[in-house]
Amino acid sequence: MSEREIAVLTGASSGIGAATARLLAKNGYHVIAAARRVDRLEALAKEDANIEPIKLDVTVQADVDALAKHLAGKPVSILINCAGGAFDADPIHESDPEIWKKTFDINVVGSVRMIKAITPLMQAFGRGHIVMISSTAGHRAYENGGSYVATKHAETSMVETLRLELNGQPIRVTEIAPGMVKTDEFAFQRFQGDKEKAAKIYEGVTRPLVAEDVAEAIRWSVMLPSHFNVDCLMIRPVAQAQVHKVYRQPL
Ligand SMILES: NC(=O)c1ccc[n+]([C@@H]2O[C@H](COP(=O)([O-])OP(=O)(O)OC[C@H]3O[C@@H](n4cnc5c(N)ncnc54)[C@H](OP(=O)(O)O)[C@@H]3O)[C@@H](O)[C@H]2O)c1
Repeated sequence: MSEREIAVLTGASSGIGAATARLLAKNGYHVIAAARRVDRLEALAKEDANIEPIKLDVTVQADVDALAKHLAGKPVSILINCAGGAFDADPIHESDPEIWKKTFDINVVGSVRMIKAITPLMQAFGRGHIVMISSTAGHRAYENGGSYVATKHAETSMVETLRLELNGQPIRVTEIAPGMVKTDEFAFQRFQGDKEKAAKIYEGVTRPLVAEDVAEAIRWSVMLPSHFNVDCLMIRPVAQAQVHKVYRQPL
């Protein structure tokens, strides 16, 4: 790369996003590390001069517009939509519609906002790659995961539609669909701060995936030759044969 290409990454303040920021920066990209908790982004940026912290809430259009303005005319070649999460574990018939709205606003509409803002920058640059961090939940439903499963199915279909719409342009569209990844905050958010319930998710699983594993899948996908499109990469720990089927060592 002559001039450092720019990778825009949402959800960079923790988990998969933070690991991806570190790995892409190490591999020569200038990483726009975006999230709401700017203190964490600034700490990340101290680790590597190729990481630029940007305070951004994907549900706030003005934040997304300001980022697009900041990047106008720059060599933006990658967008990774990683910001997201699960915010309840309720059966649908007992769930809170406000949680559904929040989950859709971040996971789905937030990704749309980012795609709308960043795609024109890739078109101006001459090529690009949009990566969506969906989930195996985008391919298989499970009980008590209604709001999250619905948003991840929406992300999966969004990726397919986008690939059709951008066909003929040098812009790749990839879905990375991880299964169980042990990150610090994901399960904690889902169980609204209940540490015990969050810890149970990974109980007895000897080696769940970790954030660095997903970062490596992202790095591999984006660093392939530019004619080579990974449509969907589904990745799980060996202990997880299907969303429901997890081998747990007896305690
Ligand atoms: N962990 C898993 O098992 C797993 C499995 C499959 C897929 N995934 C997907 O992978 C992605 C990252 O998961 P993770 O495990 O790394 O979770 P995480 O540690 O909870 O990270 C979520 C990230 O999203 C950011 N975020 C949340 N709301 C935002 C908003 N409104 N605007 C901007 N950023 C926002 C958070 O930053 P701020 O709070 O600082 O804004 C944080 O950086 C998610 O899309 C998740 O659905 C995770």
